Amino acid sequence: MLSPDRLQFHSGNLMIDRPSWQGLPPLAGLCTFEDAQRSALSVEHCVAWMKRHHYLLVRLHEIFTARITAEPVYELKTAFSLHAFLCAEHASAFRQRIGELREPPLGLEVVPDASLKLLCDEVLCSPGQAELVLGLYEVIVPAVIESLKRYSTTTNPLADAPSVRVTRFCLLEMDDIVAFGRRAVECLIDPTTRERLATWRKLLDECLLRAGGSGKLVQSKVWSPLGDDERQSQVPIAALAQATTDLSPPSPQFSVTPFQYDPVPKRDARFQDSFNAGVNPEAFLYDEQFATRDKVLMLLYKRLREIDVPEMMASILHQTAGKPWKYYRDMTRQLWDEARHAMLGEVGFVHLGLDWTRIPISFTWSRNLNTQLEPWERHAVLFFIEQGLMPRMGKRYEWEVGQHSGIPLAGLFQDFDWADEVLHAQIGREWYVKEFKDLNEAMSYGDRCWSHVLSHWSSDRENGLTQHRNWWPDIYRAACERWGVSPDPAALAFNATYESIRADLKGISASG
Ligand SMILES: [Fe+2]
Ligand SMILES: [Fe+2]
Repeated sequence: MLSPDRLQFHSGNLMIDRPSWQGLPPLAGLCTFEDAQRSALSVEHCVAWMKRHHYLLVRLHEIFTARITAEPVYELKTAFSLHAFLCAEHASAFRQRIGELREPPLGLEVVPDASLKLLCDEVLCSPGQAELVLGLYEVIVPAVIESLKRYSTTTNPLADAPSVRVTRFCLLEMDDIVAFGRRAVECLIDPTTRERLATWRKLLDECLLRAGGSGKLVQSKVWSPLGDDERQSQVPIAALAQATTDLSPPSPQFSVTPFQYDPVPKRDARFQDSFNAGVNPEAFLYDEQFATRDKVLMLLYKRLREIDVPEMMASILHQTAGKPWKYYRDMTRQLWDEARHAMLGEVGFVHLGLDWTRIPISFTWSRNLNTQLEPWERHAVLFFIEQGLMPRMGKRYEWEVGQHSGIPLAGLFQDFDWADEVLHAQIGREWYVKEFKDLNEAMSYGDRCWSHVLSHWSSDRENGLTQHRNWWPDIYRAACERWGVSPDPAALAFNATYESIRADLKGISASG
């Protein structure tokens, strides 16, 4: 909607020289007559510029995804999951828009500029959390924002209205990303670290500068948040759209060695005893003798534990090449949903006044899958588990438990969790089942892959990685205290583990 000011401006403008019907906003409210007469960017220029946005969004998606598994800090892991998804969404929108501009063959896989590539490679290969956070949130995302803003104030807002719309939506969420990022930089990067990284930071700025080629004065404005507004009028616009530059990229620092994906999940200090598989929540959940209110604790544990799904799905995404773009978009949507499910569990514990850091949120599922199976086999296990969630022992049941628990938030969370899982089963049918003769064959392959995963239950204990402590009675007692009730003696005595029973209550492979 137009703001009252803009309305006034429009009608004022119209009254003078462009009569419209009773002073209604002209041009469908898109812009003024003055702006609608901009002629700086042709279709060709717009396509070239948007291809740069597309390239950076695809690379951001790649970097966020590639760094989820081995990033220990939970808040960054979950934020990377969201930010990867947002970048995938906006990359999809730009792909579609570019395809509308007489552009087949699209050439969307072509690297538009060697310096932009180096910029992204450097951040992808950055060795630590500080470098990564700085590179993502203080350099690449702000550069995308500046360029998007510049695009929407340079192109013709009427002739190129569909691109401006895509750009505006993208800006909205890039601003959200950078708001998180600014806080992350404040929290994680102290002056000493900033000083240590000063040379590298200059290299990133130099990449942005050189990405502009001969119009580098302009490009420093376009690609860098550190620009000089007054220089905008000197911009040779055509230079923006020149995909190739006459400047070679600077020398790489971190990306001299190609990126090595680390498939082993890491967790921060709040996650203790991460090899613990001493409690089997599914065995509790499906035991009719226990109260639904008590079962909510196990549901919340299961939700929070789902942080292992982004850790695992990130490995599939990073290690699977050559699929259509929609595959990466759909799988990233699911990855983000699973991070969100973990946060629903986190919020559930907060809601009940319970400290979840007292419970071991294990990572053995993502760890075992990432280190023992091929990406395709991991996808098979994922689909098998999610499809198994559809019938009786599944999401409807979990929702019913939540509904009858006397804890409305638990019912609400399970309601949305169930809806998400139905979507995930559809994503699985699209990108996994189609490779098989039928659903049964796809399911039995997933079951076989899962049964090949060695749980290492005993060897983890023998190697001193965990004692498989039964953590259930402690958290259950704490919850009963909050509720002001006495614990159910049978529930308190629950002690089923994952030693021989896996999460779908089937037998498990012997420990390796
Ligand atoms: Fe989930
Ligand atoms: Fe799921």
